[in-house]
Amino acid sequence: MYQNTVAVAFLCFLKPCIACDFQFDYSTKFGGSSVLKKHYAVKEITVTLPNIYGVSIENENIPRLCCNIFNLKSDVRYVIFDTCLIQQIEEECFSQKIEHLTNQIAITNNKLTSIKAGTFRNLKLEAINLENNLIEVIEDESFLNLTALTILNLSFNNLHALNSRAFMNLPQFGILTLQSNRIRTLQRNALYFFRKNYSQLDMKCNELTYIDKNALDGLVVENFELNLYENKLVSLPEGIFDQHSFSGIDVGRNPLRNQSKHFCSQNCTVQHFFFNCAGLNMESVGESVQNIGDWVEQNNVKLHTDDYCSFKESAKPIIQPWSICKSTGSVKDIWYSAYLEILVILYCMV
Ligand SMILES: *[C@@H]1O[C@H](CO)[C@@H](O)[C@H](O)[C@H]1NC(C)=O
Ligand SMILES: *[C@@H]1O[C@H](CO)[C@@H](O)[C@H](O)[C@H]1NC(C)=O
Ligand SMILES: *[C@@H]1O[C@H](CO)[C@@H](O)[C@H](O)[C@H]1NC(C)=O
Ligand SMILES: *[C@@H]1O[C@H](CO)[C@@H](O)[C@H](O)[C@H]1NC(C)=O
Ligand SMILES: *[C@@H]1O[C@H](CO)[C@@H](O)[C@H](O)[C@H]1NC(C)=O
Repeated sequence: MYQNTVAVAFLCFLKPCIACDFQFDYSTKFGGSSVLKKHYAVKEITVTLPNIYGVSIENENIPRLCCNIFNLKSDVRYVIFDTCLIQQIEEECFSQKIEHLTNQIAITNNKLTSIKAGTFRNLKLEAINLENNLIEVIEDESFLNLTALTILNLSFNNLHALNSRAFMNLPQFGILTLQSNRIRTLQRNALYFFRKNYSQLDMKCNELTYIDKNALDGLVVENFELNLYENKLVSLPEGIFDQHSFSGIDVGRNPLRNQSKHFCSQNCTVQHFFFNCAGLNMESVGESVQNIGDWVEQNNVKLHTDDYCSFKESAKPIIQPWSICKSTGSVKDIWYSAYLEILVILYCMV
């Protein structure tokens, strides 16, 4: 897949290959009813009446999300582009074209590889969903001055790092889902941009091996929920969670080796702590389990775990099932990859 992307990018560099001229179908939903109206073989999404609730475009071929696709003259709650083979957003004008969106934009199950600076800016949107693309890079200020943005979903992409400078002036921000990416580290001040108590960061199924001991500096919210399930952490730095309060922390299925109990000891409160051992080498996590058990008892934390961990009874563990991370590639991706390969070959022959 990666080789294909490089090949296509190189060809695009030689000749501009994605013009802004696509035909597609879309459907609109009206407020207060479930009635859908279908629009066939059009080149733009037209919303001029105030009673349109949402617009969806599904299973189309729109490799570039060009600004001329949008003709939104009246407020609409959501626009969804699902499975449209979108690779690029024409970012300079994009935000002006969607300023009438009040609730959500979703560009899901597409082929975006990066989010450029200022792509989403000065909007009143509450949620942005970019789930299941091929995003490797989110540039600084990709999400800028979004006064109502609460939820951002970047699950099932190819991010190698969490660029916290991508998130600027988001005064209502509360939920970031980064499930199933390839993020390896959390640097200092990585999470300063959360603004609501009970904010949630879901980083389960990544490749975290390292968390800076100051990663949570600047995080001002209370009752934070942090999910690091199934990463590759071998230790949590001493004091990493100090001066913070959590409704939940999940570090299940991380190969923590000889973890000390001082990861949360100075003015640090945790209501629920999750630690599953399924799939781990019990010999190497045994010491950590013991230390975590002591910490749980001393701090009155509710412990959630599975049958594989041998926590002592006095830690009052709540036994729960565990799950496995799903891989991102689907059968559809494999076909798409083959299709791209053929396109590249044809292109080279011309
Ligand atoms: C931020 O966005 C709001 C609209 O949501 C706009 O009114 C305001 O001028 C923007 N601020 C800046 C500094 O661009
Ligand atoms: C984000 O995507 C994940 C993975 O598909 C999904 O389970 C979750 O509900 C989404 N989260 C939000 C807040 O939309
Ligand atoms: C979070 O909760 C604390 C204490 O309950 C409160 O003082 C603070 O104002 C709250 N912060 C936000 C952003 O709501
Ligand atoms: C303890 O931590 C909370 C945040 O969880 C903070 O508001 C409070 O100021 C801290 N207290 C001390 C004594 O450091
Ligand atoms: C675990 O760490 C403690 C100090 O943090 C050390 O005293 C102990 O020897 C270590 N145990 C193993 C098996 O490495």
